[in-house]
Amino acid sequence: MPILFTDMKIVKTIQEMQALSEDLRKEKRIGFVPTMGYLHKGHLSLVKKARELGDIVVVSIFVNPIQFGPTEDLSKYPRDFQKDATLLEEEKTDIIFSPDSKEVYPEGYSTYIQVKELENYLCGQSRTGHFTGVATVVAKLFHIVKPHFAVFGQKDYQQLRIIEKMVKDLNMDIEIVPYPTVREKDGLAMSSRNTYLNPAEREKALLIYASIKKVEELFKKGQRKASTLRDEAMKVLRSKDGVDIEYVSICNPDTLIEVDQVKNKALLAIACRVGKTRLIDNIILMEA
Ligand code: PAF
Repeated sequence: MPILFTDMKIVKTIQEMQALSEDLRKEKRIGFVPTMGYLHKGHLSLVKKARELGDIVVVSIFVNPIQFGPTEDLSKYPRDFQKDATLLEEEKTDIIFSPDSKEVYPEGYSTYIQVKELENYLCGQSRTGHFTGVATVVAKLFHIVKPHFAVFGQKDYQQLRIIEKMVKDLNMDIEIVPYPTVREKDGLAMSSRNTYLNPAEREKALLIYASIKKVEELFKKGQRKASTLRDEAMKVLRSKDGVDIEYVSICNPDTLIEVDQVKNKALLAIACRVGKTRLIDNIILMEA
């Protein structure tokens, strides 16, 4: 039995969403949070931010098939629309835009957005085509939802940078609002993928945050050599079996290019596999 939501509208078609937004944006500031659903507190904090800054909050729930690689199982991506909708109503969301795949990518669809350079680093090295999929769907969602601003989490730092660059390069009249990573009490960055971790894996996943804290501590003590900071992070990650490091990068936060020495600020970004689950986290190291 579907639950009925009194004040929140659920929109399935592009035509209806565009018409609604066209009308609303004449007098109201529209804030937008794009998601793939299976919402956790991290997502909800983005929605809260949009609620604080805007008059109308639109959240999209769309599991975007074109950002999944051939080895990444789209059909296994967790979904729970009723729960998501209940959580979003509690956050006073005005509109959920939840199209199906054929609505977004009808037969013959052939236009893609590639943000060159930035997609080559960090996660882009192993997830070929992922960021083209992300940039394409976000551009489409921006054209459909027509927001004044959109909120993106810093947990997916490379995604955030790519969206910022796309908006700048394509002169999109949309403000991108970054939001800090939300963590569990023990430091694990919130992610829909955390639900894949069994208790032993979840324990091991805490090494990611422990390695970040270690680097932060060394940085605060004056260490600026990137290779030393990287090695220390790796040491922590390797202190227990079962954490497979994909990368530990100390890079320029704008270009994502690795640095030798941290001057003013740098991004520490980590990707690991714990069991079958790929986890990412990052922090900005900044001179006080
Ligand atoms: O971060 C996500 O959940 C997705 O990459 C996004 C931005 C909703 C695009 O599908």
